[in-house]
Amino acid sequence: MAKKKTVQRKGGRPWQQMLLQLGQWYAQNARPLPFRTNVHWYRTLVSEVMLQQTRVQAMLPAYEKFLHRFPDVSALAQAPESEVMERWAGLGYYNRARNLQKTAQAILTHHRGNFPESMDEALALPGIGPYTASAVLSIAYERPHHVLDGNVHRVLGRLFLDDFRSQNGEQAQNASVSTSEQQQKPSALTRKQQPTAPASTKKQQENNGSSESTADPTRAFTDGMAAALMESSPLAPSEHNQALMELGATICVSGLPGCLDCPVRAHCQAFNSGGPELAARIPARQSARKQDLLLQTYWIRTGDTLLLLSSSDRPLFRKDWFFPCRILSAEGHPIYEDSETSLFDTPTLRGHFAHSIMNYRIKVEIYQCKSQIVRGGSRGKAARGSGSDRAHSKADRLEAPIAELNRHCPSSIVKKAISKGALDF
Ligand code: ADE
Repeated sequence: MAKKKTVQRKGGRPWQQMLLQLGQWYAQNARPLPFRTNVHWYRTLVSEVMLQQTRVQAMLPAYEKFLHRFPDVSALAQAPESEVMERWAGLGYYNRARNLQKTAQAILTHHRGNFPESMDEALALPGIGPYTASAVLSIAYERPHHVLDGNVHRVLGRLFLDDFRSQNGEQAQNASVSTSEQQQKPSALTRKQQPTAPASTKKQQENNGSSESTADPTRAFTDGMAAALMESSPLAPSEHNQALMELGATICVSGLPGCLDCPVRAHCQAFNSGGPELAARIPARQSARKQDLLLQTYWIRTGDTLLLLSSSDRPLFRKDWFFPCRILSAEGHPIYEDSETSLFDTPTLRGHFAHSIMNYRIKVEIYQCKSQIVRGGSRGKAARGSGSDRAHSKADRLEAPIAELNRHCPSSIVKKAISKGALDF
């Protein structure tokens, strides 16, 4: 494990409050996944090995079929290897299936049919690295071992961005650039990993790819934070680890995160210093693949004018004049919403088109509304600093004459939308 660095925080209380909020959110929002009900170490082990290579939704059919054929450790241990491979089809990384069966056999031979309760014994099993061992021990046995998968790494990198910067001195000062600079200049947390010798063993790598290396300073930092959080957590270990993983899988996603719905954004250092736009850059995306987004634009016409808003909280076209809008991830998670949008009268979907900007591949939808209910101020819901202590920042509004639309709103999205009939009402 990486040498733990102590982050100077004002006592443990802020973390505990944050973790309690996270736990509450998890209790209400955890996806009802089959391996979360009737928790048993065998089902946890199978699911965690599968989840190292596949997203939850994609692995579920294979998981159900695998458990149907191999419902317990004996069934898996005694099956012909070829059949285990067959049931693993589509998941790839067949060595993991082979090791999983060897682990099942070792558990029967050396551990009386149960996953061992100590970390050392767990790590001695074939193909079991720190991630899998910690996941099984914490989720199935409530042992306080922290997990650090890619999702948790990203969540902690964002939550504790300032702490990382202050600990890593000059090296991390590149991360202290303004949001606009950030777009061109990678920060210490966004920079591609240097090809340093990995601290993880081959076995660890087999389980988790190179992502479990703590030779990378960002990984060492988040690993230390993950350990410190677990040490002082008011949550049960299973709840603690799964809540962090779930937050990373559903809200604090790579690319543009859904800060709008984040239960701990008030504690998030990336959000507080740069909003979702900064959080989107930490850590770097794994690949150059563009993130898919849905942008719903609301065209509110009053006579010869259209309503435009300018909000510093909107992660796209930040501070520019733009239509009231909602931004959703490809999976439908809300990322941003001008709160007025829920009040518009019977919006009609007029059309849609594809558009690419920066690292986003966007499906743009055009909604027209004849009448506008709300007048006066507008508030972006993804405003900075949640909670009652800080007001949401206000979006400015402009009734822009249609003839001047291009001047206020020069984005080519507007021209495309007009060509799709956005003004025909
Ligand atoms: N990713 C891997 N294991 C997970 C779990 N138990 N919950 C949420 N995401 C996960």
